[in-house]
Amino acid sequence: MHTLTLRRPDDWHLHLRDGAMLKAVLPESARHFARAIIMPNLVPPVVTGDEARAYRDRILAALPPGATFEPLMTLYLTEATDPDDVAAAAASGLVRAVKLYPAGATTNSHAGVRDLDKVLPVLERMADIGLPLCVHGEVTDPSVDIFDREAVFIDTVLDPLRRRLPGLRVVMEHITTEEGVAYARTGGDTLGATITTHHLVINRNHILAGGIKPHYYCLPVAKREKHRLALRAAATSGEACFLLGTDSAPHVDALKEHACGCAGCFTATNTMPLLAHVFEEESALHHLEAFASRNGPAFYRLPVNETKLTLVKHEQPQSFPEKILTEAGPVTVFNPGFPVHWHVEA
Ligand code: NCD
Ligand code: ZN
Repeated sequence: MHTLTLRRPDDWHLHLRDGAMLKAVLPESARHFARAIIMPNLVPPVVTGDEARAYRDRILAALPPGATFEPLMTLYLTEATDPDDVAAAAASGLVRAVKLYPAGATTNSHAGVRDLDKVLPVLERMADIGLPLCVHGEVTDPSVDIFDREAVFIDTVLDPLRRRLPGLRVVMEHITTEEGVAYARTGGDTLGATITTHHLVINRNHILAGGIKPHYYCLPVAKREKHRLALRAAATSGEACFLLGTDSAPHVDALKEHACGCAGCFTATNTMPLLAHVFEEESALHHLEAFASRNGPAFYRLPVNETKLTLVKHEQPQSFPEKILTEAGPVTVFNPGFPVHWHVEA
């Protein structure tokens, strides 16, 4: 039996949704994670400080009795966002980041940004106050191949933006390519990158070979194997710029297993055992705490968690629920397709 004790991890990119779905999925994150950056792509999106405060209150009210979990709120950047509102929400400690969705890039992103020039005053204010911009880094130009959208975004949008506003602190969300890994390494302490659990486990074959697997479909879509290997090397390196962001994104099965299936993998339930599995395979268990528990707080200028989490490796493969039941229907938990022997100690 092998035991690993870490500072309690945080999730630097999480979708909790609202209402019945929030109630059903929140315990899955609160069980293992102390804090999470909460994505604002609700319908309607969380745009203002007041909306973020109300959403935070709904999250806290949905917590199971006795659970301690701190939602770190984000604002959904629109072309009408008011820089003063953002600054006030940040100054009060309510809001920890602003999320940039290129309009049309992903789930509920239609209210996002079409013209970056229109949001420059907000971004300038964020640079002044040190508030991070979390970026969904894909171009939306239909003529760009979906597997190239991240790399093209880095060259044509992200790098020009960072040159224009060198003081802006940026998190490249859910990077999926070796280009993303390489670019994240160049940014010093103004640039971080989250990496999901599922992108460490699957490549595009898992989605498309031997029948289409809707539960492996997410955005940015998983790329070819060399990119998965670059992500694994990055996450397990311990380098400060790489943070755990699960991008756990619940959709009910009826909407995943559909002629036009929703994007998102639900990994909140089994992320920590899966990460232990991956880090052990890479002989890097000693870097799991950096990735999951230290690099995030350092980037976001927050204290590390004082509480601990213990993972135990058992002889026998450990089971996890196949589905989480919600009032709206079942949500399938990400299945890595191999036995996992690690388990979070109760
Ligand atoms: C996310 C969702 O469902 O909200 N989906 C996903 O595939 N990751 C949105 C996002 O983060 O792109
Ligand atoms: Zn996401």
